Amino acid sequence: MVFLGSCSSDDEEYVAIDEPLEFTVPSNFPEPSYDLEANPPTKFGFELGKKLFYDGQLSANGFISCGFCHEQRHAFTHHGHQFSHGIDDLEGTRNTPAIQNAAFMTEFTWDGATSHLDLFPIIPITNEVEMGETVTNVVNKLKADKEYQKDFSLAFEDGEINTENFLKALAQFMVMMVSADSKYDKYVRNEAGGDLTDQEKEGMELFEQKCSSCHSTDLFTDGSFRNNGLPPNPQLNDVGREEVSGSADDRYKFKVPSLRNVEKTAPYMHDGRFGTLMAVLDFYDSGVVDSSTLDPLLKQEERLGIALSLSEKEAIIAFLNTLTDNTYLNDERFSEY
Ligand code: HEC
Ligand code: HEC
Repeated sequence: MVFLGSCSSDDEEYVAIDEPLEFTVPSNFPEPSYDLEANPPTKFGFELGKKLFYDGQLSANGFISCGFCHEQRHAFTHHGHQFSHGIDDLEGTRNTPAIQNAAFMTEFTWDGATSHLDLFPIIPITNEVEMGETVTNVVNKLKADKEYQKDFSLAFEDGEINTENFLKALAQFMVMMVSADSKYDKYVRNEAGGDLTDQEKEGMELFEQKCSSCHSTDLFTDGSFRNNGLPPNPQLNDVGREEVSGSADDRYKFKVPSLRNVEKTAPYMHDGRFGTLMAVLDFYDSGVVDSSTLDPLLKQEERLGIALSLSEKEAIIAFLNTLTDNTYLNDERFSEY
């Protein structure tokens, strides 16, 4: 899809050619779930989406951009914040998850509040403790901005600044955010730089036995909602998936998170309760609590949880660190500046 976008303003004339961006599926990944034909990423659509992602105008006070909470060098999580922290210093109740490989995911947020990446941005924009704005106001602000008038005319055939194109541009940016270049990826694809140490290999075997039924495929999540036995946080009483489904069978179930770049995304879990990977493994080893919705996989041993010795925990952590993708964390295509 190549088309001409042209637009004249005052005495200047632009003629720029948009071009499709190639979306490459890594050979160790499943097929994408995002409908790339309905919203094919293009050079200008992606660039516009990136500009929007880092633009504080998307919030009521003009200061909180998507990138404020989703920082690239921490795999687009909010480093140092247990809970999301947005407009007027208000705090939410959940930890900011990574944004990566969104084109391969089918549900978004910890409880799966939406399955449409295109519609996703409406949630943080209208959330009163995140961006506290309305989509109509955002679109009006963009319409009044000369630069955005040009950007939209280049990125979309109809050139309109409207909700649909606004959301499509943001989705194009997020769809292109693929993380698949860690040491582990190089190992499974037999590429240079993929030599795992003995400890990392031991950790990988332990992970395959004990963790990969939930953190499955090379996305490191099966995309399902499960209760992994965290003691409910009494202050928040976050019921998780039940919030969306209304079913008590879903109480305390949360989306299985991908573990890619997990070394960089502390703190961990939906409420950011653990500061280190060792604390997470101590929890799986000895902190799992029973309830009617606890995942059966965590009730298979004589005791609850997953028994792990200290050296096994260390090996698993060494393996998890091989999922750090420095190419992604430093990729200038996704950087604010
Ligand atoms: C105030 C901090 C904050 C801002 C601003 C923010 N987010 Fe988020 N983001 C979060 C939190 C917290 C969650 C998890 C919400 C939940 O589970 O209820 C999240 C979840 C997500 C997810 C889902 C990830 C997954 O794997 O489920 C995506 C995608 C995302 N945000 C994109 C955006 C975009 C795009 C914007 C700007 C329009 C944005 N965020 C603005 C904090 C923020
Ligand atoms: C029964 C399914 C299941 C098994 C088995 C499982 N996990 Fe999880 N894991 C989850 C779920 C669900 C969450 C999110 C829970 C929440 O936040 O409420 C999670 C969260 C995590 C997190 C936090 C990630 C983040 O971004 O916050 C890490 C790290 C983790 N698991 C590692 C492991 C390791 C290592 C193993 C094996 C020792 C393991 N998990 C076994 C389901 C599972």
